[in-house]
Amino acid sequence: MCGIVGFIGSSEAYPILIKGLHRLEYRGYDSAGVAMINPDNRVNVYKTRGKVADLEEYVADKDVSGTIGIAHTRWATHGEPNSTNAHPHVSGNGKIALVHNGTIENYAVLKQALVNHGVQFSSDTDTEVLVKLIEYIKETTNSSTVDAIRSALKTVIGAFAIAVIDRDNPDQLIAARKSSPLVIGLGETGSYLASDATPLVEYTDRVVYLRDDELAILSRHEPLQVINLDNEPANVDIQTLRMSVSELEKGGYPHFMLKEIFEQPRTLRDCIRGRVVNNNTEIKLSGIMDNAEAFKNVGRIVIVACGTSWHAALIGKRLIQDLGKIAVEVEYASEFRYSNPVLNTNDIVIAISQSGETADTLAAIKLARSKGAMVYGVVNAVGSSIARESDTGTYIHVGPEIGVASTKAFTGQVTVLAMMALAIGQLRGTLSKEDTAVIASSIQKLPDYIEETLKLDPLIKELSQTYTYVHNFLYLGRGYNYPTALEGALKLKEISYIHAEGYPAAEMKHGPIALIDRELPTVVIAPHDDLYEKVISNIQQVKARGGEVIAIVTRGDKTISGIADHIIEMPKVIEQLSPIVAAIPLQLLAYHIAIKKGCNVDMPRNLAKSVTVE
Ligand code: G6P
Repeated sequence: MCGIVGFIGSSEAYPILIKGLHRLEYRGYDSAGVAMINPDNRVNVYKTRGKVADLEEYVADKDVSGTIGIAHTRWATHGEPNSTNAHPHVSGNGKIALVHNGTIENYAVLKQALVNHGVQFSSDTDTEVLVKLIEYIKETTNSSTVDAIRSALKTVIGAFAIAVIDRDNPDQLIAARKSSPLVIGLGETGSYLASDATPLVEYTDRVVYLRDDELAILSRHEPLQVINLDNEPANVDIQTLRMSVSELEKGGYPHFMLKEIFEQPRTLRDCIRGRVVNNNTEIKLSGIMDNAEAFKNVGRIVIVACGTSWHAALIGKRLIQDLGKIAVEVEYASEFRYSNPVLNTNDIVIAISQSGETADTLAAIKLARSKGAMVYGVVNAVGSSIARESDTGTYIHVGPEIGVASTKAFTGQVTVLAMMALAIGQLRGTLSKEDTAVIASSIQKLPDYIEETLKLDPLIKELSQTYTYVHNFLYLGRGYNYPTALEGALKLKEISYIHAEGYPAAEMKHGPIALIDRELPTVVIAPHDDLYEKVISNIQQVKARGGEVIAIVTRGDKTISGIADHIIEMPKVIEQLSPIVAAIPLQLLAYHIAIKKGCNVDMPRNLAKSVTVE
């Protein structure tokens, strides 16, 4: 939610800031802005509604000089997306500019107090309150910018990652965080900061992840200094960033989403590498092996996640229950944190998150830890907050996911959950060696299955033409593929704005069946598994009411091809892994329908990839 970038050094700041904003645009794209201190010591602030490209157009004839600056791309929380509410926000005297990611929960109280002291406001944002509070403290207490920021942040309730420049200190860029991510890069020609590491990659691999309640002073001539809000020095832990520029580019594809769909054979190879071992008879996951006693004696497992990660969690529940024989519950992280959950010290909480920054998931694991449960993170973004706050975990290692609609992260998450379920089964003796070997070898073959499935692209592209102008879709699946149906529906609605509902196929008769007519196509995930015959009955029920059916079936299926209107054949794969393969045609279908409708698939309206607000 919102992306921030900052730079101080010997190069011009503006090109670095704009490039950084483009990288962070997945975090929000309803307005954008930059502020630089120019060589005449003037703070130039430019902001506009719309995307980063709109900002570039807007500043084309303006003075963007300066070697220190901050920038922001916004996903509105307080105040509608317009240029007034866009960041940076500026102090009343025009000297201090600030960008913010997060939410100041007590902003109304703070604003009223400032108004009572005669401070004036021009925007509806919580952020303007913060910059004006800093200015007020600085002026009334005659303190330094750093001290004023520290004092202001101590009065703030909520989440923040901020970057501040002040004309009085043109050689200092100041940043601070609490619950919103911030990473600092130390380069040859200057220091960088950003909401994630993607804007830093081409300049440096030396990074420092700021911790909660830390404040960083990036100086032109001094080394990086980090202090806490009480002005005590904090440890500066410089880490090596492992990310390449090519991972962040489209690599010849028209959209990140398509690139990420087609990348899945490789990303799954990376995800599996070194984990399916011993001639495909064993799973090696250090997170499980290092905590063998905890998994042997576990009471129950609770999985918390949001969005697509929550769908992966539903599949994980079945996998762990089937293979590890442990009771598993799945909770939306946002509900879990306010449900006063009963957790015992022998419970394990698994948190699944692509970004590792989702505010609700982060809060859920903090709560779980406070109740003594062990937290296991299944995360993509290396070094992210959820990864760091977890006791242990497994990275999915699918590389940066830029398209807002999650694709390769979903298949990576389910693959890791399958490996975890196998590893837990091995450990607890709930799985025979033979069964382990069958599933482990199938995991090893997943990249090949996906490669084959991707060959369906032209067929799905063609099929998508039929459905471009449909207003509603129903997605049905059973067993392991009920969550796949939910995920297929989510993909379609996120990027094409077509209303789509995912349902357990057998539940259809308790409600959605009333909707079925010629105008409502139904996608049925119907691989040849234990529930196959029953799903055929569900398809018949749709057909009997005049509905159109697109069925995703196992290659060679003769029965459904005689009933459904359209058939998409996927390779034969064991039931437990079928959601990973079935997800591919659903991703492609959503993509092609959205493209035909002219939608911006990488940046769908109102969405953001990393939801760092409640
Ligand atoms: C947002 C994204 C989804 C994602 C969800 C959870 O809604 O648009 O694609 O599934 O957040 O994000 P996480 O990073 O925790 O997996």
